[in-house]
Amino acid sequence: MSMRHLYSCILTAIVAPLILTACKNSDENKSQTASDMTAKSGITRTEFGTVDGKTVYLYSLTNAKGDLVKITNYGATVTSWVSPDKNGKRTSIVLGFDSLAGYLAKPPYFGAIVGRYGNRIAKGKFKIGADTYTLALNNNGNHLHGGIKGFDKQVWEVAPENDSIPVVTLSYLSKDGEEGYPGNLKVTVTYTLTGDDGLKIEYNAETDKPTVLNVTNHSYFNLTGDHSNTILDHKVMIKSDYYTPVDSGLIPTGELKAVKGTPFDFNTPEKIGARIAQVPGGYDHNFVLNRADSSLQMGVTVTDTASGRKLEVFTTEPGVQFYTGNFLDGSIKGSNGVPFNKNTGFCLETQHFPDSPNQPKFPTTLLKPGEKFHSITMYRVSVQ
Ligand code: GLA
Repeated sequence: MSMRHLYSCILTAIVAPLILTACKNSDENKSQTASDMTAKSGITRTEFGTVDGKTVYLYSLTNAKGDLVKITNYGATVTSWVSPDKNGKRTSIVLGFDSLAGYLAKPPYFGAIVGRYGNRIAKGKFKIGADTYTLALNNNGNHLHGGIKGFDKQVWEVAPENDSIPVVTLSYLSKDGEEGYPGNLKVTVTYTLTGDDGLKIEYNAETDKPTVLNVTNHSYFNLTGDHSNTILDHKVMIKSDYYTPVDSGLIPTGELKAVKGTPFDFNTPEKIGARIAQVPGGYDHNFVLNRADSSLQMGVTVTDTASGRKLEVFTTEPGVQFYTGNFLDGSIKGSNGVPFNKNTGFCLETQHFPDSPNQPKFPTTLLKPGEKFHSITMYRVSVQ
């Protein structure tokens, strides 16, 4: 049985009983409106700097409508996503920097691919069969986002591109023992900027020893296109009847808790700020997406009335970490000198559930030799 089939069965098994009883603000193209814009679709590459003795590049993906997404192979990171607002003004809807130095200063995973295990593993320990593995501890005695030097801090390989198509494929070989994980894991991430302003992210991976894997993208969005604004007025809809409550270290208790009647119920669109004060620290929780199978489905929408922008999130993953930038404290500044303050971005990290390797009732994150890991997430932006 493939991991995905196994996941469907396990998810059905745990949810069914419950149901029975639950940039810099870019001024690029500023004078042009969305409708008069016809750009040349494709990809260009410029040098971005040097890390670990390797040259790092910045890839600019443009579609015919003029959306522009920039991605660096340092951390396979999305640095900028310039799209028009309802007045045609083009600014970036993700938090990022226009130079490599911003990323080397270790911002909290801005736009990066996180792994080998995105999110937390309690005490950095888990078992596969009779073998216990101990991972690097980097978050209050727990393991977070792949450890001290996770995928977000690695230089990824990039295969030669067809410069007339806005697609870039990045790959990384995570060696046996890296950050404590077993097995040589080859992971590839393909970013495609679609004609209808979707950023499709496709993940593939294979291992030579049983291991655990939970890769995601950690983009912080601010649909106003100006990170001097908070995201508290954005309206969020999450198709989710359950979330995974956490302890004080943000480790799941193992329970799937009904969102009904709680500040976690986003089945009807709600402003982020409406009930955030009732959630100690702010939202930083994994939502169990309502779904019958692991096909690509829309799970989340976010709208911002002021800019008219709408973000839709489609994924094959069973969950999404909704994080409201609670740990941003103004100590990091954007390339325009404006600090990234608390709640100036939100993340929708599509994923398997946190600490799954220690939670037998959660969908499995085990990947075995011979299996092909495959996962897709697409963020799509439009104006209303
Ligand atoms: C994730 C985690 C948060 C925090 C951020 C990075 O979203 O769930 O607790 O660690 O990454 O700051």
